Amino acid sequence: MYLTREEEKIYDGERGEALQKAIRAIVKVGEALGADRLIPIQHAHVSGISYYNIGEAGYKFIKYLYTSSVKTVVYSTLNPLGMDLDKWEELGINKDFASKQTELVNMLLGMGFEKSFTCTPYLLRQPKFREHLAWSESSAVGMANTYYGAYTNREAGPLALFSSLIGKTYNGGLHLIKNRKPTVKVLLKEIEKDFVINEGVASAVGYIIGEKIGDGIPLIPLRLKPTFDVVKAYTAAAGAAGSIALSYLENVSPEYSLYANENLEKIEIDIKEIKDILVDALPTLNENDAYFIGCPHASVEEIINLYNNIHDCKKLKTNVVVSTSRMVYEAIEKMGIKEKLLNLGVVIIRDTCPIVSPAFQKRFEKVITSSGKALFYLPKQQSQPTILLKNINLRDILCRE
Ligand code: F3S
Repeated sequence: MYLTREEEKIYDGERGEALQKAIRAIVKVGEALGADRLIPIQHAHVSGISYYNIGEAGYKFIKYLYTSSVKTVVYSTLNPLGMDLDKWEELGINKDFASKQTELVNMLLGMGFEKSFTCTPYLLRQPKFREHLAWSESSAVGMANTYYGAYTNREAGPLALFSSLIGKTYNGGLHLIKNRKPTVKVLLKEIEKDFVINEGVASAVGYIIGEKIGDGIPLIPLRLKPTFDVVKAYTAAAGAAGSIALSYLENVSPEYSLYANENLEKIEIDIKEIKDILVDALPTLNENDAYFIGCPHASVEEIINLYNNIHDCKKLKTNVVVSTSRMVYEAIEKMGIKEKLLNLGVVIIRDTCPIVSPAFQKRFEKVITSSGKALFYLPKQQSQPTILLKNINLRDILCRE
């Protein structure tokens, strides 16, 4: 791989051992993918900072970088932690865990990362069309490539971290137009009208596509424009059930028209397949269950929708859990919605989510959600029975008259 003089100096260790390790890892992955050089990135987003997920090995890795005094050189954000930094005690997190997680956070902030702790970094800084990123949160990668038309591979957490320190990534994979061609056309036909407005249906479609085409690149013709939250739910589910990092959705993806007329293999997803994983009959919930939104972290609109459904409930029938970013939390606080939801008993957590926090291991009898990514991970990572719901009549399932 071609390296500039400065990159060579880093590679040879003239800028210290930590940066040498960082650039060598990026070059090695790049060479394996046939990359010819390194390219600058505008934003690094790093996942794998929940102490619950990375444990002592991850802690030691970050401590090594921190004590080496290396710093981020581009705008760099962090994924959710294993706890809400303010409410960890309330959630039942033990002191040892909290102290390790807090130390991790302080080290990362000391290295120059933003205090973001969210899987929706695109709401903090909107990726630009065709700009290069090094992101490692699969749902965010899907949004960056699919919704914004930015270019990023689905990096491993440590590699995105290395890119934040070097400000570069390798010129390979999805950074090259030749690797961004769609591989299959997905026809939704009769489910399209529900897909474009309903996160539960979008999640089910993403889940099925992920399972069917693995790491392919689907192209999905649509007559109608899906909502932002539908695209968010779809890309998260497709990235969890498969490894889909890029989709082309008509009326959404900036480069859809480049490929609209490609002659591709076709698959169709029908109502029967959707019904196999999506419950549309209203489930009965009690105080041992939970309704959950916020995987990926809930947007202002999703929280307003929840609020509109339950604001006049006298009492909730079940636990309602919302995970979101600090930015959205502040926005709903200003709107006066946060206080009203808290008064109703809704649990709103920031900095974390029920999938990456030890506070949510087998916490409920069942969880109902419209998130296909939560459907994929909650049973596996938290032994938590989970049902995917078509998001309708929330008031009927959540309110006790
Ligand atoms: Fe985000 Fe947690 Fe889901 S990190 S995408 S809310 S698994």
